[in-house]
Amino acid sequence: MKTIRTAQGLRDAVRGARERGSARVGLVPTMGALHEGHLSLVRAARRDCDLIVMSIFVNPKQFTEAVDLEGYPRQEAADAALAAAAGVDVLFAPEASELYPEGFATTVHVAGPVTETLEGAGRGPAHFDGVATVVSKLLLVSGADRAYFGQKDAQQLMVVRRMVADLGIRTDIVACTTVRDSDGLAMSSRNVRLNGEDRARATAIPRALEAVEAALALGETDVEALHARAGAVLAAAGITPEYVAFVDAHSFLPAHEIGEPVLCAIAARVGSVRLIDNTVLTLPEPSEER
Ligand code: PAF
Repeated sequence: MKTIRTAQGLRDAVRGARERGSARVGLVPTMGALHEGHLSLVRAARRDCDLIVMSIFVNPKQFTEAVDLEGYPRQEAADAALAAAAGVDVLFAPEASELYPEGFATTVHVAGPVTETLEGAGRGPAHFDGVATVVSKLLLVSGADRAYFGQKDAQQLMVVRRMVADLGIRTDIVACTTVRDSDGLAMSSRNVRLNGEDRARATAIPRALEAVEAALALGETDVEALHARAGAVLAAAGITPEYVAFVDAHSFLPAHEIGEPVLCAIAARVGSVRLIDNTVLTLPEPSEER
């Protein structure tokens, strides 16, 4: 695995690989602190690409709280070892001044409910502007044919899909299933900051999502009733969520009933750690008449 720190270096490496016959280039964008969730993206990329580029860049533009940016885990040497073992060919780890040199003045802004609701409302507009700006730059510099994102950040995924479609960027965006620990908690770089007791309490988040899925499977399609199911599981663990939201999975407009795919998303602070998780709800298949 080769580590590259400049945009020009990445362009050259990708061009060289294409000249040597790498037909398909896959990009796995990350902010480091790699875990099984990231490695599952690499494995997905390995299945359908010839050259795997992983970026590790703690993007200052998408952090709205300075303490969160400062406290974000940085462990490049350990990450590089994990990335190499998982089959990454090129690790792109630029400094902020490389991606945002002096005079950098462009912001990519995706408008509408997809950026203004849930995470956008909670963290402010700068968050998704920062994500859209850095992802568009990474896609353009790498020239990737495919880029891999986790379904755990469902809203980020939709922002990226919208941005790529609107700007005519030719990269296919591939969504990968959320990877969970054995206790159900969605893998996140923030999980290491949970102490033992909070870690156990945090499992109420996936259990709340499961309770919603179970109620839907039994025929409950009313969003208010489903909301109450999730709320009860969280309350029992002493968690007051920032939101439990039911939105149309494509438009992010509020959903009142389960019909078209609905995203049920939860954000909550457990101790000092802010966690998010989600599930996509669809109506159960009607049972066959005998
Ligand atoms: O999901 C992340 O880790 C980041 O938001 C991303 C996509 C790498 C952009 O900085």
